[in-house]
Amino acid sequence: MHVAIIMDGNGRWATQRGLPRTAGHVEGAKAVRAVVEAAARADLGTLTLYAFSAANWTRPAGETSALMRLFGQYLFTETRRCVEQSIRLNVIGRRDRLNGNLLRSIEQSERLTAGGNGMHLRVAVDYSSQRSIVEAARRACGHADLDPEGFMRLLQEVDHGTPPAGEVDLLIRTGGERRLSDFLLWECAYAELHFAECLWPDFGEAHLRAALDDYAGRQRRFGGVAARDPRATRGEGA
Ligand code: IPE
Ligand code: IPE
Ligand code: MG
Repeated sequence: MHVAIIMDGNGRWATQRGLPRTAGHVEGAKAVRAVVEAAARADLGTLTLYAFSAANWTRPAGETSALMRLFGQYLFTETRRCVEQSIRLNVIGRRDRLNGNLLRSIEQSERLTAGGNGMHLRVAVDYSSQRSIVEAARRACGHADLDPEGFMRLLQEVDHGTPPAGEVDLLIRTGGERRLSDFLLWECAYAELHFAECLWPDFGEAHLRAALDDYAGRQRRFGGVAARDPRATRGEGA
């Protein structure tokens, strides 16, 4: 199962407490650790976390540099924990706008966790789904026989998605907004959506479990008819 999370609400969490927005990001990073461990315990196959969007570069420089610093610290402290828990880490998104040290940390974390056969943890940084789709479309030019699976492979290539991940089953967004903000637009074609009011720093194992319970009660039809819905077979001469 592939769960993706838009981790939103750090700034509001801090503002409500009279703190600078960066304090919310520090608290948000702690929530990431707890949720990753909870997700691994819940046996999720893939967890993709939206940590920094391409559009987030429009924020004040102090905030973006604090976020990049926090991400570097996260890689520094969590890589060993990932190895211990057999979690394979992969950072998706653009890499050409990240600083050299961060880039090396990413490559090192990916290398050190590559043998992990447990959960696949993907962190989206400088990520824009629209840009990825445009870039994949550019690479698709000339491949007249390309099907959606082939296009998905190109998308993974563009996003540095190694190993490739499947489509999203459940998309969670915290912070109360009901929008995708340019996250995994192609991969969420048939994702179930779960919007949580709670701000990201307050999100924990209980909220993840609630989202998974909500998902378990959904009926996914992928355009077909429900297997156990009596109306579905009416008129079929049964
Ligand atoms: C999510 O929290 C973290 C990032 C986008 C990097 P926000 O910083 O967007 O928090 P709000 O939405 O302003 O509360
Ligand atoms: C989406 O949140 C990006 C991340 C959580 C990393 P934003 O806070 O940037 O999205 P908008 O601006 O509310 O759409
Ligand atoms: Mg936000």
